[in-house]
Amino acid sequence: MKIIEIDNNAVASVSNHVKPTPKAGEVLIKVAYSALDTAFEEVAHREFIPGSLLHDLKVKPLVAGWHYSGTIVSLGDDSSVTTTNTTSKQNDLTVGDLVFGHLQYDSATRQGTLAEYITVPTLECAKIPSGVDLDVAAAITTESLTALQAMRDIGGLSEGKNVLVIGAGGGVGTQAVQIAKAMKASKVHAVCSTYDVPKVQGLGADLVIDRSIQNIEKDLNAACYDIIFDTTGKYSFASLKYALAKEGTLVNTIPNVATFLFSWMFPIIFGKHYKSVFVQCNRADLELVGSWLQQGIISCPIDSTHNIKDFENARDRQKESKKSGRVVVKVEGGW
Ligand SMILES: NC(=O)c1ccc[n+]([C@@H]2O[C@H](COP(=O)([O-])OP(=O)(O)OC[C@H]3O[C@@H](n4cnc5c(N)ncnc54)[C@H](OP(=O)(O)O)[C@@H]3O)[C@@H](O)[C@H]2O)c1
Repeated sequence: MKIIEIDNNAVASVSNHVKPTPKAGEVLIKVAYSALDTAFEEVAHREFIPGSLLHDLKVKPLVAGWHYSGTIVSLGDDSSVTTTNTTSKQNDLTVGDLVFGHLQYDSATRQGTLAEYITVPTLECAKIPSGVDLDVAAAITTESLTALQAMRDIGGLSEGKNVLVIGAGGGVGTQAVQIAKAMKASKVHAVCSTYDVPKVQGLGADLVIDRSIQNIEKDLNAACYDIIFDTTGKYSFASLKYALAKEGTLVNTIPNVATFLFSWMFPIIFGKHYKSVFVQCNRADLELVGSWLQQGIISCPIDSTHNIKDFENARDRQKESKKSGRVVVKVEGGW
């Protein structure tokens, strides 16, 4: 099969590789679309941290990419056997199903979705709901699951909570604003740069704060938010804790020493929480996001779609700060 191989100088080129075989409990997927994200360059440049946390950097050939949509072309040995209620959930996928998901961002991950085929555990992908396009399904996976797991699982988001999303014009932030609204947060405030203000207003934020005009480290209302989701990882607990309500949580996307080692101390000392999210792909969350997409409750703006043979154009576009949505790669039929 064809893959995009990344050499030691971070140069990407097409090469041929052995097609993977699905193990028991896995499916073989012919990739239709992938999408780029910030993790790609970190892996391509073999940055020890965080690249090595996101992928096995020693694997040869090195092929990256996490997002995907595609078609199941074969099942691992036990994937078609239904015996109990528990396993039926694992085994309800069949050849020909259209599925989406993302590979785990994990030091053990050895494949990439910039390839014709991938193998995936059955419980780490979900059927694409009817009416949802394959490019959108691929584009939304990581960012929506990150936002959902950060705000719901770590921040305790539920109806009536007040939320602030920082980096609301970016991939994760775009999903976070919409998901906070979908989960009936009381107030959804969003921070972005001037360029993204109209887009973020269009996502339904109740208040959009232009960070080039206001300094969020001092201009927010005190004790206002139950959840502050810092998608950029650029803000310290010290600089934003004034805006957290009692028992509120600051969640970021980039673990640091404070969130990694000392997150247990913050509630004891300050009565407020400081934590990081580590996105995990799972069937239930994909199905939830898929149903929101199908109902038009959330959307996933696409900036541009590039055939995989023009991969360098996609890579250049992903680096542009003024892109207006996800950069999608057409894998099937795009070589
Ligand atoms: N831990 C996990 O599981 C996980 C999962 C997914 C992503 N991530 C990480 O999350 C980060 C965000 O991902 P993404 O896909 O959303 O990236 P993105 O699309 O590049 O968006 C980042 C956003 O942050 C804004 N920004 C940059 N500096 C800022 C600052 N000082 N204050 C406020 N906003 C600022 C940028 O807009 P302006 O500069 O124009 O304002 C941009 O809109 C990446 O580092 C990614 O690797 C982690």
